[in-house]
Amino acid sequence: MSKLVIANFKMNGSKEFIANWVKDFHEENESNKTIILALPSPYLSNFKDSYLNLAGQNVSNQSSGAFTSQLSAQMLKDCGAEYCLIGHSEARQYLMETNENIKQKFDQLAQESIQQVLCIGEPLVIKEASKTTDYLLEQLELLSSDQENIIVAYEPIWAIGTGLTPEIEDIQLAVDCIRGRFNKSIKVLYGGSVNSSNAANISAKTDIDGLLVGGASLNPKEFAKIAQLC
Ligand code: 13P
Repeated sequence: MSKLVIANFKMNGSKEFIANWVKDFHEENESNKTIILALPSPYLSNFKDSYLNLAGQNVSNQSSGAFTSQLSAQMLKDCGAEYCLIGHSEARQYLMETNENIKQKFDQLAQESIQQVLCIGEPLVIKEASKTTDYLLEQLELLSSDQENIIVAYEPIWAIGTGLTPEIEDIQLAVDCIRGRFNKSIKVLYGGSVNSSNAANISAKTDIDGLLVGGASLNPKEFAKIAQLC
């Protein structure tokens, strides 16, 4: 099964930037990985192509109606998204998302057959108190242990955009904890300051199914390298 490599552009880019990115990425890319672009939603429908898969960065917990500013799962599907991030720590922090509404988002995506990528991860205080696995299990409470076909992205909050990454053993510990929570086999990704200098080590020394890349994904050559090394 090919590994997944997700570029999360967050709130970056423009039509021109993304068009150049796609061109440069295709020129550089030699990997056979499943590449997924989590673009800002206004650009999704412009960039559907046969090789790149698209992801939304978030979705509404409602299906339609008077919810000004929100985007439904159906709209994402309509724009070509086959995947969608939910529970990203930036959405939890800035949009006050709770486990309860993340579960509703999960169900909205399921109705449209969009693959959920559930992001979880601990803040620094929890890591320092050695309570990471308890924290992750709490974040996973929204899903039944019989849930199938899920992708969970382990992204320690303190590793996002900081240049810091956990020790390899700590990533594997988190991955084992996440997998152990489910009865069926699930996919687990790692995210948090991934770049072309650490991607090979993280991929080779843990049994992750892929990477979720933020800042470094904005450079198409760097991202192609990461995809190659993953
Ligand atoms: P960075 O790769 O910039 O640390 O971001 C990780 C992330 O939040 C991806 O979703």
